This record gives sequence, C-alpha cells and structure tokens, in this order.
Amino acid sequence: MASLSVNFAGVLFQNPIVLASGIMGITGSSLLRVARAGVGGVTTKSIWLTAHEGHKNPVMVGTPHYFINAVGVPDAGIQKAKEEITFYKKHTNVPLIANIIASSEIDYGLITEAISELKPDLIEVNISCPNIEDELGKPLACSRIKAYEVTQICKSKTHIPVIVKMSPNVEDYVGIAQSCQDAGADGLCCFNTFGPGMMIDLESRMPILANKVGGVSGPGIKPLVLKMVNDIYKAVSIPIIGTGGVLTGKDALEMMVCGATLVGVGTMVYYYDIQGFETMYQEMKEWLETHNIQNITEIIGTLQR
Ligand SMILES: Cc1cc2nc3c(=O)[nH]c(=O)nc-3n(C[C@H](O)[C@H](O)[C@H](O)COP(=O)(O)O)c2cc1C
Repeated sequence: MASLSVNFAGVLFQNPIVLASGIMGITGSSLLRVARAGVGGVTTKSIWLTAHEGHKNPVMVGTPHYFINAVGVPDAGIQKAKEEITFYKKHTNVPLIANIIASSEIDYGLITEAISELKPDLIEVNISCPNIEDELGKPLACSRIKAYEVTQICKSKTHIPVIVKMSPNVEDYVGIAQSCQDAGADGLCCFNTFGPGMMIDLESRMPILANKVGGVSGPGIKPLVLKMVNDIYKAVSIPIIGTGGVLTGKDALEMMVCGATLVGVGTMVYYYDIQGFETMYQEMKEWLETHNIQNITEIIGTLQR
C-alpha cells in the first residue's frame, strides 16, 4: 500500500490534494463536504477583516479549456469566518488553511492576528488577486519589496506557519518567491489566477464579465504552472503548493514531480464536481502502486533534465 501522506511546514496531510481558495470555501459546511470527499486539506475563501463586496454578475464563465472569474473577493468579514471555521473544526481534523486578504499592510497584520485566534493549521496570505486591480492597484505579489514587507508583517503577528500566495503575472516570479522566503515565509502557494484576461460576446461585442476582465484558471494554464513551479522549486527551500489547472490524479503527480509538496485544486470542481477529488486520489494511489513507489514524497521534485 503506497502512502500518500505529506508533511507541509510541520502539518501532516493524509494526501497532497488541497482544495484551493475561493471554491466551496465560504461556509464551514461546504468546507466539511470537501474534507469528506477525500482531500488532504482545505483552504477557505479569502477572509477580510470587515465585510467586502464583490463584483456585479456575471462574475464567472467556464469553457472546455479554461475558466475566467472576477468574483471580486466578496466576504462577510472575520466575525462570520469565526463561526464557519469553528463549525468546521468541531467536525473534522482535516487540516484547514485560512486564506486572508487586506487592502493595506497594516490590515494584513491585523487580519493575521485575528485569524490566528481561530487556530487554523496554516495561514495563506493572498497578495495576488488579479481581478481587483481597479480597487487595490497592482497586486503586492508583483513587487519583491512589497511581497517581502507583507510577509514579514504577517510572520511577526503569528506563530502559525505562513504561506504566501504568489502571482504568475510577473516576470520576476522567482525573485519574488525568494524574497518571501527571505522574509520568513514557511511555504508558497504557486499560483493565483492568470491575467487578467477577457472573454467577448461576439454578438454584442461586449466583454462577458460585468467587470470586463477576470483571472484565468483551469486546464489551459497547467503547462505554464508546471514550468513556473519547477523554476521556483529550484530556487527556494520552502515547500510549495502547486496550484493551477489540475483536474486529474496524473496532473497532480506531474505537479509534484515539478516540485510541489501539496497540490491545490479549484476549477476541477466546475468540470467534475466534488466527486473529482476521490477520483484524483484513486488515480494517484494506483499510479504509485503500479510504479512500485512506497511513499509519494519520493516523487517530489524528481523532474529529469
Ligand atoms: C471562482 C474562483 C474564485 C477564487 N477566489 C480566490 C480567493 O478568494 N482567494 C485566492 O487566494 N484565490 C482565489 N482563486 C484562485 C484559486 O485559488 C487558484 O489559485 C486558481 O484558480 C488556479 O487553480 P485552479 O486552476 O485549480 O482553479 C479563485 C479562483 C476561482 C476560479
């Protein structure tokens, strides 16, 4: 029997599949449904200190090849998150990653302190959302200095391991990953959505999303993410959650071969619903057994050159 368990920044995950932020992650009960569907861990939707409105509908569109969203990070704020996380933790021990967001460095510190009281297993700091540029400007994850500063602030406010969520939309992604590590990050989530991009309704000649632009996810981004995860893996020593375009167990194993310790999975739910998690798990287990690999950690970063 192959073991699929992995240790990420001191937290044990029964398997490397983790629900990515923003998908089924608002309520404790939907997180619990995913936890019971066979994942190794779950991530909450991004949590703000106070309520934050999202964008107007339509906010998402799926195609066979990719998905685009401009949800705009709506959230009811930390008080509501407290109820949901408390509910989740009462019903399961499946590790929970609390994803946080803020509009200033000071607020990143405050939300880190507030979320730490709820004792999530890990804190993921979202500094890379590409579809709220109108409101917040260029994501902090696009600058080495800003990414360093936010990481340092969050680290100084908590004893819980901190993961920084990276942007793929910048040439210097390796340097930015290194500066998060230098600032004390315990792990990286690579990546948030690509873009922003646009989808057009030809008849009306208008963008389909009310926000006009949105972040691109799903199968079309996988080759880009595999390459970029591998570039970062070669340049840092902290563990990586490889996230982007993973739909199957084999996709997840490819991500691990490129250097991911955990694999984030979001848009897959649009194509296969939550049963897709169990299918992925079974595929991974079968592949390991067919290849006589006892422990999944043996494949991390084993890309041949
Ligand atoms: C509808 C939707 C909402 C998302 N919301 C968030 C969010 O609140 N916070 C965040 O850090 N990432 C968010 N993401 C990004 C995902 O967590 C993930 O990084 C990205 O979609 C790539 O993975 P995937 O191709 O498996 O979906 C969202 C993605 C989608 C599709």
